[in-house]
Amino acid sequence: MNLKKFLMASGLSMVLVLGACGGDEDAGTDEPATEEDSGASSGDVDAEGIAQSTCASCHGEDFSGAVGPALAGTSLSEDEFEETVRNGSGQMPAYSEDQINNEELSALYTFFSEQ
Ligand code: HEC
Repeated sequence: MNLKKFLMASGLSMVLVLGACGGDEDAGTDEPATEEDSGASSGDVDAEGIAQSTCASCHGEDFSGAVGPALAGTSLSEDEFEETVRNGSGQMPAYSEDQINNEELSALYTFFSEQ
């Protein structure tokens, strides 16, 4: 009798454990998106660092122009700026969202236009 109860109880707890696991899995599938979001919205975009490492080689170390035109104090609108970076132009390479995400792109625009 007691053994049966024990087995039933442990069977029940197995179900509970499995149920709990299922719940975790659901939470797990949500996680990557949440992580991405929190990573992207951490507000710690190093626009100057990205600009130095990605754009300075063509636009000049102080972004006053070299192979490419000056970006410092750009008179482009944010839309024009983003379109050029996303689509490229002439020798200007196109950068996908995998390379520069939207938040970084907008931080870059702010960085350049405020110079
Ligand atoms: C391989 C060299 C190269 C790199 C790297 C590069 N650019 Fe350019 N960029 C150019 C050239 C050349 C032009 C001029 C294109 C043209 O004349 O159509 C240009 C044009 C632009 C323009 C348009 C400027 C204007 O006033 O019309 C923007 C904005 C721009 N680049 C942003 C960037 C940003 C932001 C980065 C870094 C993420 C970057 N570029 C990296 C070469 C480069």
